[in-house]
Amino acid sequence: MTDVTTTANASTAVTAATDGAMRALGRTLAGLSRPGDLLILSGPLGAGKTTLTQGLGQGLGVRGSVTSPTFVISRIHPSLVGGPALVHVDAYRLGGPDEVDDIDLDMTLPESVTVVEWGEGVAEGLSDDRLEIRIERHPDDTRTVHLTPVGGRWADTDLPVAVDPADDENTED
Ligand SMILES: Nc1ncnc2c1ncn2[C@@H]1O[C@H](COP(=O)(O)OP(=O)(O)OP(=O)(O)O)[C@@H](O)[C@H]1O
Ligand SMILES: [Mg+2]
Repeated sequence: MTDVTTTANASTAVTAATDGAMRALGRTLAGLSRPGDLLILSGPLGAGKTTLTQGLGQGLGVRGSVTSPTFVISRIHPSLVGGPALVHVDAYRLGGPDEVDDIDLDMTLPESVTVVEWGEGVAEGLSDDRLEIRIERHPDDTRTVHLTPVGGRWADTDLPVAVDPADDENTED
């Protein structure tokens, strides 16, 4: 029998038509985030991982602009509003889980919201509870963002199913 009534721990897929919609989704996710959360971002080159992280930074109210670091693997953005810091990691150049261990993310994890770009397959060991975010890029340049909750932390969290049009920076009205 297929249980179709379960909503707890359900995956969702959100359409993000523009970079503004991507940031809006990031701001929404920031509103759901708590200290200790781990978000693992995956998706091809240019999928929009950093753009989503920019929205997270906006929503969390952190210091500094979230950029795609060329030489920096991990950057800490402290909160300007008394909330958790954003720890932004780009694992693109990391060889595997051992090298993730080497950057001591477990030191900052409990008090921060930790986001790992290219984290799939390397960052899962940081926490049994995590939100796995896979960005799919379509030929028309829109994106589908697949949100998969893992572990009890996310069990009672209603994940977004759409970007609020009122929150999309690219929407003119
Ligand atoms: N939903 C979207 N729709 C259209 N364009 C988008 C969307 N999200 C991001 N972009 C654009 O795609 C480009 C790449 O975005 P971004 O740098 O965030 O990707 P990335 O996944 O972090 O790339 P990398 O793999 O290099 O880390 C940027 O120009 C950004 O504005
Ligand atoms: Mg990036």
